[in-house]
Amino acid sequence: MSKIYIETYGCQMNEYDTEIVRAVLQKDRFDLTDTPEKADVILLNTCSVRENANRKVFGRVHTLKHLNNGRKVKIGIIGCMATDFKQRLLKDPHVPVDFIVGPDSYKRIAKIINDSVNENIKGFDVKLSKHETYEDIYPVRESGVNAWIAVMRGCNNFCSFCVVPYTRGRERSRSPQSVLDEVKKLVDENFSQVTLLGQNVNSYSYDNKDFAYLLNKVSEIDGIKRIRFTSPHPKDFPDSLLNTVAENPQVCKHIHLPLQAGNTRVLELMRRTYTHEEYLALVDRIRSKCPEIVLTTDIIVGFPTETDAEFEDTVRILRMVEYDSAFIFKYSERDGTLAQKKYADDVPEEKKTERIMLLNELQKACSLQKNRAHIGQVHEVLIEQDQTKKSENDIQGRNDGNKLVILPKDGHHIGQFVNVEITDATAHVLKGKVVNIK
Ligand code: 5AD
Ligand code: SF4
Repeated sequence: MSKIYIETYGCQMNEYDTEIVRAVLQKDRFDLTDTPEKADVILLNTCSVRENANRKVFGRVHTLKHLNNGRKVKIGIIGCMATDFKQRLLKDPHVPVDFIVGPDSYKRIAKIINDSVNENIKGFDVKLSKHETYEDIYPVRESGVNAWIAVMRGCNNFCSFCVVPYTRGRERSRSPQSVLDEVKKLVDENFSQVTLLGQNVNSYSYDNKDFAYLLNKVSEIDGIKRIRFTSPHPKDFPDSLLNTVAENPQVCKHIHLPLQAGNTRVLELMRRTYTHEEYLALVDRIRSKCPEIVLTTDIIVGFPTETDAEFEDTVRILRMVEYDSAFIFKYSERDGTLAQKKYADDVPEEKKTERIMLLNELQKACSLQKNRAHIGQVHEVLIEQDQTKKSENDIQGRNDGNKLVILPKDGHHIGQFVNVEITDATAHVLKGKVVNIK
């Protein structure tokens, strides 16, 4: 049987999809390996949300072909770049890719791999489905701490910059029962945290049951200690959802609330469907119900036609909201999107660089200030890794608000909850020591 190696790019949804693919492959008796050198088949689970991610994958395809020079290794592209690669391959048969499987076709991946290995057939399956949720597949997960569960897939919003509705198709949700059954099973397997995923997780809808209903139901399951979710869209945050977050101790007090831009004209061009006032009102509503909430965001700078004054509105909102952290991106034109069709990518690269640097600097100062305010507090930390990038004697985990916390190892282990007194902080991490063990 062929040995398969999978490399994953992009967001948590892709990490989860890799676990789905692993489950399908194991069922079909393929062996998995964790090094490309040992593999007969290499799958790249790709992301196409920004040009950088695309470029990385193209580079990697060529490196891998050379790495396995002389051996008959097959390279398959799966995930969001599937359609893109199919078009490239049709134009240029020398692209070193052997088969392509889109995000809704993973149940058919085994046949495509076998056709490629045994018959040298270049298979494509990039059809998008209105129904596929993979709710009948139990993912093969790696870590025993956090379990991703995609509760909905796809997106109907068509924000003008975003390629996701094209690469992942329409919104569809899986049944609440299938989610609850999976969470119960995860508890039995000693997972203490689940993260509910969706491109627009709060658009979850199944038989008139909404996301607040689902989150409430998951919170009622005995033994699940932490529930996270990502990413919600600001257009759709009813009080019922906010109350669920505020009132359930198991639901972590962290909301990732993508702003994208702080100017209403730009938001309109982006088709975000909220004004900057509405966004700020939502932030107020969240904070008044749940003052301890950790707020993070995504921002795009240099969207077509964004002026200096309009960018200043984003700066103003960043200062007003005081996020705990922010992912800031330069606008990257994506094929097929409304923005690409309607607007020239006319903000010069230097301008985008200037804007991203300014926002990153402001955010860093804000994150530092927010993190330093935790010094002296005691936070419950779930340990996720038994070493840090810098030291084998330290371990790291996350507090309820999803902040990274580093502490001395001292015999503690992955999966353990510990109470940590925060003694120091940078813009990116909290540092501390255990004060007592739960
Ligand atoms: N250019 C830059 N950033 C983008 N994002 C999505 N599409 C683009 C694009 N074309 C960012 C958004 C989104 C995050 C996942 O990626 O901020 O929230
Ligand atoms: Fe993309 Fe907008 Fe859908 Fe998010 S909500 S996946 S940014 S189209």
